[in-house]
Amino acid sequence: MSERDFKKAAVIGWPLTHTLSPVIHNHWMAKYGISGCYEKRPVAPDSIGDALAAMKAEGLVGFNITVPHKEAIIPHLDKLAPLARLMGAVNTVKIEPDGKTTGFNTDGIGLMANLQQNLPSWPKDRPAMVIGAGGAARAAALGLLNENLPFVVITNRTREKAEVIAKEIGRGRMVVVDWKERNDVALTAGLIVNTTVLGMHGNDPLELDISKCAKDTVVYDIVYQPLVTPLLKDAEAHGLRTVTGLGMLVYQAAAAFKVWFDIMPEYDDELRERLEAVFR
Ligand code: ATR
Repeated sequence: MSERDFKKAAVIGWPLTHTLSPVIHNHWMAKYGISGCYEKRPVAPDSIGDALAAMKAEGLVGFNITVPHKEAIIPHLDKLAPLARLMGAVNTVKIEPDGKTTGFNTDGIGLMANLQQNLPSWPKDRPAMVIGAGGAARAAALGLLNENLPFVVITNRTREKAEVIAKEIGRGRMVVVDWKERNDVALTAGLIVNTTVLGMHGNDPLELDISKCAKDTVVYDIVYQPLVTPLLKDAEAHGLRTVTGLGMLVYQAAAAFKVWFDIMPEYDDELRERLEAVFR
């Protein structure tokens, strides 16, 4: 086999302690008969340029980018796909055989695909509520604005950051609400998406009163460590439908795999089993 037939991809981040991306992509490479490997590469913030040059020289097909490099990579790339430009962040890079690089952002696609696959009947007759104003909130807002919803509400501890998102991508269909008013908004929302780090292992839980929400309300937490966050436990206890964040990770990876290999891979039972085993 020539070196070219062996396809290499990677994920870069710092520190890159635990990432499930290698499990996902190596599963799909084997499943679709692609000879190659996907590995993790810790890259310190001042080494992005060198790391990119090394990956080009080694002939990688591309790579994923996680914190804290999603924005810092941009000046090093030749081109940006439209969604990456709107997001101001890149999570996937394709390297052409001639070394030219294009940045993509598949986070929003992953977030919406996870919702669509798990609960295609999520309510669209009421506003959706996005909690947080980081990159994931922007991805959620972009995805939700493409749905036929009355409008999208965004709330964040630091209100100004939510205002920037509404102004930059809201197209007049995003409403910013004060952090202390979030419980009132939850009452009327059809979908509630937590994009903050609250509820993640080691952090405080997100305090949100969902006890009076309509019974068809969907609560979606993009935090997946733990798989079932305190918010989702509370929602389940009140009979609400929930979506965990693990699927978002898988579907954003699927969109990246498509960019590199032109195959849309399946979230099959074997992969589900492997990933869920990590959390047991
Ligand atoms: P990412 O880009 O991965 O989405 P981020 O930019 O670090 O992540 O954003 C983290 C989000 O969690 C922000 O919305 C942050 O709120 P601020 O903008 O006010 O910082 C939110 N967050 C973090 N800790 C929080 C806390 N203790 N209470 C409320 N929100 C919190």
